[in-house]
Amino acid sequence: MKTVVIQGLGFVGLAMATVVANAVDAKGNPLYNVIGVDLPMNQARIDQINLGNLPFKNEDETFPVQLKKAVLEYKNLLASTDENWYKKADIVVVDIQLDIKKRSLGNAKDCYLEKDAFIKAIHTLGKHIKQDCLVLVETTVAPGFSRKVVKPALDKEFMERGIDVVANPPRIAHSYERVMPGKEYLASIRSYPRTFSGFDKISAEMAREFLENVLEVDKFPLREEKSTETSELAKVMENSYRAVNIALVNEWTLLAEKMEVNIFDVIEGIKKRKTHNNMLYPGLGVGGYCLTKDTLLAYWSGINFYDENLDLPMTIKGININDTMPWHTYDLIKEKFHEDKFKTILLGVSYREDVGDTRYAPAEKLYTKLDNDGLDVVVHDPYVDEWPELPDANFIHQITDLKEYDCVVLGVKHNIYLNLTADQLIQATKPQTLIVDANNILDDEKILALLKSGRDVVGVGKGHIARMKRELV
Ligand SMILES: NC(=O)c1ccc[n+]([C@@H]2O[C@H](COP(=O)([O-])OP(=O)(O)OC[C@H]3O[C@@H](n4cnc5c(N)ncnc54)[C@H](O)[C@@H]3O)[C@@H](O)[C@H]2O)c1
Repeated sequence: MKTVVIQGLGFVGLAMATVVANAVDAKGNPLYNVIGVDLPMNQARIDQINLGNLPFKNEDETFPVQLKKAVLEYKNLLASTDENWYKKADIVVVDIQLDIKKRSLGNAKDCYLEKDAFIKAIHTLGKHIKQDCLVLVETTVAPGFSRKVVKPALDKEFMERGIDVVANPPRIAHSYERVMPGKEYLASIRSYPRTFSGFDKISAEMAREFLENVLEVDKFPLREEKSTETSELAKVMENSYRAVNIALVNEWTLLAEKMEVNIFDVIEGIKKRKTHNNMLYPGLGVGGYCLTKDTLLAYWSGINFYDENLDLPMTIKGININDTMPWHTYDLIKEKFHEDKFKTILLGVSYREDVGDTRYAPAEKLYTKLDNDGLDVVVHDPYVDEWPELPDANFIHQITDLKEYDCVVLGVKHNIYLNLTADQLIQATKPQTLIVDANNILDDEKILALLKSGRDVVGVGKGHIARMKRELV
């Protein structure tokens, strides 16, 4: 069996390692030995994996089952901190992070690329790998990185080892993940359209053979791009397209509210037109690891690799709009309270519905802003036990009695909140409570019942509530 080493056992790397280890031939025998390598600081995670346990929470029930199967039944998946494993690799899949950080919100251009860890990791590979090993980069990189960073780093290490890089160039390919948090986590790797590109013909052929073995390519044929630049750019433009789509509706939401219009009605109407049916929705804000940063990788590349005047103004503006959107919910709350002290409960802190991932969640920004005002904020989320970004946040676990709170923010479209009836909300809250629907969780029937019961309601994109209130008087 060939050996695949996955560099980086984070959310994506461990999922990829599990998918590769579960790839079998026609007789049901595993195709690859898989070694996952992470840094020594993650020894506890490595130990859990080697016991067959998923070391973090994930909503996909098949993930722990397939991980256990690989580790304990096939015995073809091992985790380690020992970089010597790279020597055994026929293929290395790079799944480490390449972070780009913003110094402040609303000014995305003021960002810095944390590239040292990534570059160091590639040098580590160059010191160890066989000269014909394929390095398949899955990390979301700043476009151009394969040619301008990965190749020179591998060349340098190969030359130091006396390898002639003209006769034996390092084998490099790029293929990006579209993995989506939620119940279909592994399927979003295995059974989803996949793009790849090779640095040269041999690398492309090696990448194709590997991806054909591990992914469901009969249903989701591979797409090969002509250069690593093309697939690198595709990844970040794909996510930028989504981010800008949301930024557009976020911006128009503010106008709709002033016009006493329900933006969700507007969007439903527009989506009837087939060409516009992928329009997205406004909300508390945009979070997650990818949509908040990937655009900036393109911005960084444009300026640093290609042309210092290329600064993607519309896309960057979109990121700024999305990053500051939680302030809008903050404003909706503050407009209603003139006193200095009121208590808020924030329902939902993850970055999207029915997952527990809190990375760059808009709830974090809203919480921090209210907390900085010295206000009491308590949180609830059925998917989150600890909030790594805000470890001091005070969680409650039942939402049947919320009478001590003056303000209830419905922040994330978790099913549990969508399923709350108006009666349950009325029973749980005291009269005059401000209920803020930051994510289109309440329909008009529920809003009307809440208003009739003496609760106040406002919502992101829900300008029409003002009309409903007038009609009630
Ligand atoms: N999480 C997602 O939903 C998602 C989706 C699509 C693409 N991506 C991309 O996939 C990449 C990985 O994302 P992630 O969410 O798994 O990140 P992560 O931070 O969870 O995992 C990265 C892992 O790499 C390890 N690492 C760092 N340097 C290393 C080294 N030198 N050797 C070995 N291990 C090393 C880290 O310790 C960490 O465990 C990123 O580029 C991300 O943008 C992520």
